[in-house]
Amino acid sequence: MIINGVLAGAAPAPGQCLRTFLREQGWFGVKKGCDAGDCGACTVHVGGVPVHSCIYPAVRAVGQPVTTIEGLADSDGELHPAQQAFLDAQGFQCGFCTAGMIMTVAALDDAQRADPARALKGNLCRCTGYQAVADALARLPGRPPEPSRGATPPAATARATTPPAGTPPAGTPPAGTPAGASLPAPASRDVVTGHEPYTLDLAVPGLAHMVLVRSPHAHAEVVSVDATAALAVPGVLAVLSHRDAPAVAYSSARHEQITDDPFDTLLFDRVVRFAGQRVAAVVAETAAAAQLGAARVAVEYRVRPAVFDPDEAMAPGAPLLHGDKTAAAGIADPRRNLAAEAHGHVGDVAAGLARAAAVVSIGFGVHRVQHASLETHATIGWLEDEQLVLRTSTQTPFLTRDAICRLFGLPAGRVRVMAARVGGGFGGKQEMLTEDVVALAVLRLRRPVQLEFTREEQFAAATTRHPMRITVQAGATADGTLTALAIQTVANTGAYGNHAGGVLMHSCGEAVSLYRCPNKKIDGWSVYTNTVPAGAFRGYGLSQAAFAVESALDELSCKLAIDPFEFRRRNVVRPGDPLISLRQEADDVQIASYGLAECLDLVADALARDAGGPVPAGPGWLTGTGMAVTMLDTVPPGGHIAHARIAERSGGGYILWVGTTEFGNGTSTVHRQLAAHALGTGAEEIELRQADTRLVQHDTGAYGSTGTVVAGLATLRAALDLAGQIAARTGPAPAGPAAGGTGAAYPRDGALLAAEAASDGTPRSVSFNVQGFRVAVQPATGEIRILRSVQAADAGTVINPRQCRGQVQGGVAQALGAALYEHLDIDAAGRVSTRAFRTYHLPQFGDVPRTEVLFAASHDLLGPLGAKPMSEAPFNPVAPALANAVRDATGRRLTDLPLTRDQVFAELNKDAGKDAAKDAAKGRGPARGQGRGPAQ
Ligand code: FES
Ligand code: FES
Repeated sequence: MIINGVLAGAAPAPGQCLRTFLREQGWFGVKKGCDAGDCGACTVHVGGVPVHSCIYPAVRAVGQPVTTIEGLADSDGELHPAQQAFLDAQGFQCGFCTAGMIMTVAALDDAQRADPARALKGNLCRCTGYQAVADALARLPGRPPEPSRGATPPAATARATTPPAGTPPAGTPPAGTPAGASLPAPASRDVVTGHEPYTLDLAVPGLAHMVLVRSPHAHAEVVSVDATAALAVPGVLAVLSHRDAPAVAYSSARHEQITDDPFDTLLFDRVVRFAGQRVAAVVAETAAAAQLGAARVAVEYRVRPAVFDPDEAMAPGAPLLHGDKTAAAGIADPRRNLAAEAHGHVGDVAAGLARAAAVVSIGFGVHRVQHASLETHATIGWLEDEQLVLRTSTQTPFLTRDAICRLFGLPAGRVRVMAARVGGGFGGKQEMLTEDVVALAVLRLRRPVQLEFTREEQFAAATTRHPMRITVQAGATADGTLTALAIQTVANTGAYGNHAGGVLMHSCGEAVSLYRCPNKKIDGWSVYTNTVPAGAFRGYGLSQAAFAVESALDELSCKLAIDPFEFRRRNVVRPGDPLISLRQEADDVQIASYGLAECLDLVADALARDAGGPVPAGPGWLTGTGMAVTMLDTVPPGGHIAHARIAERSGGGYILWVGTTEFGNGTSTVHRQLAAHALGTGAEEIELRQADTRLVQHDTGAYGSTGTVVAGLATLRAALDLAGQIAARTGPAPAGPAAGGTGAAYPRDGALLAAEAASDGTPRSVSFNVQGFRVAVQPATGEIRILRSVQAADAGTVINPRQCRGQVQGGVAQALGAALYEHLDIDAAGRVSTRAFRTYHLPQFGDVPRTEVLFAASHDLLGPLGAKPMSEAPFNPVAPALANAVRDATGRRLTDLPLTRDQVFAELNKDAGKDAAKDAAKGRGPARGQGRGPAQ
C-alpha cells in the first residue's frame, strides 16, 4: 500500500480496518471518533475517493494510493486549498474532527460544496457549531455554499467580529495590541496538516493495550473473577481485578478540595453499582488480544436489587447503593441514597406568593445527555527513570497527578501527568476514568500501557449531565415585580457521587441569585441510583435549573401580559446588588462588570430588526419568539489556583509555561495574547508550553470557565513582572513587583530574565448571556424550525473576538442538540442503550442555524485586561429560550426536554377540542406571538 507516496512498512492483518492500519504505520492524523462510520474523523482518500477508514477493510486499499491529511499538502509544504481555508477561517476549536473534515471537503466538487449540509453529513464536529466550518467553505475558490437553514448572512452577524468601520468591538483593548485581535490558534497549521499530536498520537515502543471488563448488571456483588481462560489467550500479559487494586476510596471527580466529593469509589470494587462499571482489566501485547482476553474473563456475580428512579431511591425500603458507608465518606445520607442535599431560604416565600397578583407552580424535567467529545477518554502510561508518566486526555493534569499519588502512595515527584491537545472536554474530562487503572497496570507490569475508551464505553461508562426534576414556584405583582421564587430539585447522580454536591449547589445558585426577590427558597437532593454516573457537564447544573426557572418566569410574564424582556429588566440584579440564592450571607462573588442590561437590549433589538429566515411553506406553521437570561459565577467556589512562568528565550522572544490545558477552549491563543500585550510584543513571539505537571507549580485545571480568568491572570501577572524587569534592565527600576508577580531576584547582567506569578481565583465576578429565538412550529408533525437565533454575551473585554464568537456558536449548537434531540437512553435493566452516534443524533452541519453573536461593552474589574469567561455560559440560556419561543408560537408550555418532534406533537395534540394548534392546522395562518397568554 502506498500511503502519502510512501510504501507501507507492513501488510494489513486479516480483518484489519484501514484506520488502525494507517495509525500503526504512524499516520496519526487519522483520528477515531466512533469506529462505526458515523463521525468522519477517520476520513482518508483511497484512490482519490474519501472513505471512512474505520469501516474500510485495509486489504481493499492494497494497490491503491492512500492519502491522509498528512499527505494533502504538496511536497513543498504548500497547503491544499481546503487546508488553507480552514486555517484562514480558523474552522476548528479542539481540531479533533478537522483532519477528517478537510479530507471530505478536499474531495468535493463545486456542486457538492454548494450543499454543505448534504456534503458534510458524514463529518461531525462537537465544538464549533459548524459556523467556522461554513466560514472555511466560503473561502474556497469556486461556487460558494448556500447559507445554512435559518441562516443570517455572515455580513450581518457578530458585532464584535464584523464591526462597522471605525467601531471597535465593545470592551476591546486599543487596536494594534495583541489582546483584542482575532489571532489564529498557535497550533493552527499543525491542526490542518494533521501534525498536531493528541493524546494517543505517539509511537511508544513496547506499548501494551488494555481492555476493561464491565459489569452487565446494574447492582451486584462480584463473587469471583476467573482469569484462567483470558491468560491462555496468546499475547495476554495480565488480568487485573479487585485483588490487585489499592483499597483506597476516592472520587473520580477532580476538584481543588478533594472533600468536595464523596469518597465512594474504588479502582475495582467488590460491588458494582451500574451496568458498565469496570470489574477487571486485561492487558495484552495487542488490542485484539486484549479484546479477546476480556471476553474470556469469567466473572461470577451475586445480583442485587437495583433502583433507577431517584424518587424511588429516596423512599424507605429502597435498595441502598452505599449502605456499607457512613457519612464520614462525605455522603449526605447513605441510608436514603442521598449523595448531597442543599437547603436554604431568605424571607418568606409563602407570604411572597400570597401577595402576588399572579403565581406559577410548574414541574420540569431535564434529561440525561452526554458530552460526546470526539476524542474519547484515553491514557498512555509508562515509567521513565522510576517516574510514572501519564499522558492523558484530561482537563486537570495536576489534580489527576495528586489523585494518583494518593491512590498509590507515591510522592508528587514520582508521578508526572501531562495532556497533549485534548479533543474536546465540556467537563467530561474533569474526571479520572482511565488514569488510575493505567497507572495500576504500568506499575504492575513495568511497561507502557494504553487505554482508549470505545465510543460505546464512552456512552455506557463515562459521565453524563445530571438528569433533574425541578419544580419552580414564582409570584409577581401586577407590575411584574417578583415577590417569591422557590425551586425544588431532585438530581439523579447515578451510581457515584462525583460532582453531586457541586452540581446541585451550582444548579441552585445563579439561576436564582440572578433575580432580585425578597423571598427565595431552595431545596435540592442529589440521589444515588443504579445508573451510569453523572458528572461535570458544561454549565455544571445551571443549564437544568435555567430551563426550569427561565421557563417558569416566562409563564409568569405571560400571565401578567408583560413582555419577557421587560419582565427581566424589572427583576434582574443590578450593579451593587448582593447575589443571593441559598442564604443571605455574601460570599466572594460580586458584579465586577455589568453588561446585562445591554445584552437584553441587543437581543430585543436584533429580533425586532430581523425576523430571520422565511416561515416554511405549507399550512399550519405557527411562529413565535422567546428569550432567556442566565448568569454565571466566573470561577467555581472553594479556590482555584493557577501558576505561570515566563522567560526570555535565547535568540529572542519568550517562553511561557502554564499548567492549564487546551481542549478547544482557546486558552493557548488567549494566554499568548495576554503575555504579548503585557510585554508589548506580538503573540507570535510567545512560545507556549502547557498542561504538564513538570512545567509549573500547581494549576487546579481547565474547568469552571477558568482558563482565561484564573490561569490567564497568572500569565498576565507573570508577563507584567517580566516586562518590569526588562524595563529595569534598560531604564529606571520599577518600585516593586508588578501586579502580583513574584518580584524574585533575577539577573540584571544581560542574562535571560524570568518571572513567575499565581492567581487564586477569588474574588469572583459574574458573566451574563441572553439568548433569543424566533421559531416556526408545525403542530401536524411536532417539528420546530429555528428561523432566527441570536445571543448577546457579557464577556467583558473580548480578548479574541473570533474565538469568543466561536465559543458562543459552539455552545449554542451543543445546547440545541441537548434541547431538541440528544438523549442518552437507559433500558429497563438500567443499561445505557444508546451505544453509537447514529442513535444519539449529535447535531450535524445541516441541523445548526447560524447564530448572531453580539457582545456587550463591559470591562471586568477582576478578569485579566477586563476579560470574563465564555466557555460554559453560552449553553445555559438556549433550552429555555427555545421552549419560550415554542410557548409563544403555540400557547403550550413544554416542560420536559428534549423537545423532540414526538413530544411536541403529543403536547400540541393532546386535547383536540381546545388545542390551539389544531385550530391553526385548520387554516389559521402563521402569526407572530399569537401564543402569549395563559398556558393551556
Ligand atoms: S472514526 Fe470512522 S467514522 Fe468515526
Ligand atoms: S473542533 Fe470539531 S470536534 Fe472539536
